[in-house]
Amino acid sequence: MFITLEGPDGSGKSTQAALLAERLRECGLSVLLTREPGGTELGEALRKILLNPDKELAVMTEVLLMAADRAQHVEEVIKPALQNNMIVICDRYIDSSLAYQGFGLLGDISKVLAINEVAIGGLWPNLTLLLDVEPKVGLARHAMASNVSGSAPGLDRIERRELSFHQRVRKGYHSLQRIYGERFYTIDTTDLKTDIVAQQAWEVVVRRFCIPECTSKTYLKEGEGHEIDHCHSAGSGC
Ligand code: TMP
Repeated sequence: MFITLEGPDGSGKSTQAALLAERLRECGLSVLLTREPGGTELGEALRKILLNPDKELAVMTEVLLMAADRAQHVEEVIKPALQNNMIVICDRYIDSSLAYQGFGLLGDISKVLAINEVAIGGLWPNLTLLLDVEPKVGLARHAMASNVSGSAPGLDRIERRELSFHQRVRKGYHSLQRIYGERFYTIDTTDLKTDIVAQQAWEVVVRRFCIPECTSKTYLKEGEGHEIDHCHSAGSGC
């Protein structure tokens, strides 16, 4: 089971990825929560370069560094975890490159797709949860969260781009939903509270992977782990 969370900045993906991981763990399932860019030592170094607002990067450098981060992440972290029967939840993956660098910067995904197909070596997600949000709302949410947390890291190099870039990214995600409809599920988070989004995401995962309904830690006290071997692939019937 390989699940990715995607969406424009400020869509609440990282919060939702953590909530989903926690809920699956409460059901006795073994989960790896990871992110891009990042997720490996090399990836964290690349993340600093990629998001540093003081650095200018050429478009193809950005495309290739995102892909390099992904290639390392797949080989070092994601594939081994899947081989160990863990559920992998990844906060951003190939669709981020298609939406941001493809639709957002280049206006077309062909080059970004070709490069990233090499980077992922055929490892496509089984399910992609797209948390949609209107960019103005998302960026405002993000700015507010930074102020409330007190750390005020400010907007990174990519978040600082003009609104029209973020609008192209959002439209790009909508196009990806049409192209990859089988693995995509979209939740519009613009007017929804965190717990409602979390419940919707949970229901999609339960349905998609035939996870027996399990809502509390009581289940764990009974000492039973869920057997999920019977779920072969995304969209399989239960
Ligand atoms: P994050 O804020 O969700 O951690 O992601 C960092 C930024 O990196 C975000 O603005 C989206 C951007 N990004 C890309 O542009 N392309 C990619 O392939 C990935 C993984 C992230």
